[in-house]
Amino acid sequence: MKPIYLDYAASAPLRPEVKQAINRVAKIFGNPNSSHTSGREALNLADAARRQVAEMLNCQPSEIIFTGSATEADNLAIKGVALNRGRGHIITTAIEHKAVLESCRWLETQGFTVSYIKPGREGLISAAKIGAAIRPDTILVSVMYANNEIGTIQPIRAIGKLIETLNRERTHPILFHTDAVQAGNYLNLDTKYLHVDLLTLSGHKLGGPKGIGCLFARGGVTIAPQMHGGGQERGLRSGTVNVTGAVSMAAALAAAQKNKAKMYSRHHEWQRDLANHLQQLPGVEINHPLDASLPNIVNVSVRGHTSDTLVIGLDRMGIAVSAASACAAGGIEPSYVLQALHLPQTRATSSLRISWGWQTKKSDLTALVKVMKKLV
Ligand SMILES: Cc1ncc(COP(=O)(O)O)c(C=O)c1O
Repeated sequence: MKPIYLDYAASAPLRPEVKQAINRVAKIFGNPNSSHTSGREALNLADAARRQVAEMLNCQPSEIIFTGSATEADNLAIKGVALNRGRGHIITTAIEHKAVLESCRWLETQGFTVSYIKPGREGLISAAKIGAAIRPDTILVSVMYANNEIGTIQPIRAIGKLIETLNRERTHPILFHTDAVQAGNYLNLDTKYLHVDLLTLSGHKLGGPKGIGCLFARGGVTIAPQMHGGGQERGLRSGTVNVTGAVSMAAALAAAQKNKAKMYSRHHEWQRDLANHLQQLPGVEINHPLDASLPNIVNVSVRGHTSDTLVIGLDRMGIAVSAASACAAGGIEPSYVLQALHLPQTRATSSLRISWGWQTKKSDLTALVKVMKKLV
């Protein structure tokens, strides 16, 4: 059997548009900070990529900061806001990616206070819950757009509007950051519509290359740089910009956003179908509400199995999926996301994340169901 890749939430294959973009820029090698022709060629490419990303985020090109990953962009947003303010309270959720959680935990060691809001059983966080956690000293709210394990989509626009309303009465506005890494293939990234001040994206989740990400930081938002050096990216992220990465990421984002409505409805149908089939297998339970989740993720638990045995078993049969729980020294560390939903520990140690994307065929999911039948 031809290998089947169903782990797009971890990383997506390069899109043809991206391969074309890489070929197009491969011969341009100048440093975009150099003033000779070769440097200007590189700068033009980086500027064009910046304009392209900005157009899709409905913002100014000057509001885009290219980084080496989404992890870096999350760090820059969270530490950058906090360290610029000096002290204060941060609100985030218990189901964020580690890039957000660990940045917040580090800030706690530096004297900041952090509230980690737990979602309801469905994996959703209401704007009201965020509102209730806001204090006079709150400086930043960071809520992911869509979760990377269970795909649940958070009400970013509602939270953004709430914060904007509260800010009218405050001397120091609360800034609002969203990690939109998993959302870029299916959801609206218009930063004005979403009412966000900061937004993170990653190249490789969109069908672009690894090692490139970006942060949108609304004009007027001051953040302390986390990387010091030559003062590139308006002094906010020193280091020669990854020109090939920026061009490729822009191409990936453009392709993803252009097709998002079509892909959403197609994949949503596949998702329901897959969930229906899997639920008929003994011991299989779905871990999230499909109607409130990204259309390309199904997270299940399989009673009587561990995540690792399932992942390895499927891999042996040619199918790549992911365990939502990581293997820690000597055993399985249950998924902290599933634990935050108050699911029994065994559900969290027997979970499996199936995720797909632009190159997936419906027959790939049919093949998965067949193999799962044998395995379970
Ligand atoms: C929600 C979310 N945020 C951040 C990241 C980190 O992205 P990168 O690999 O670009 O650092 C990931 C990757 O898994 C993610 O899913």
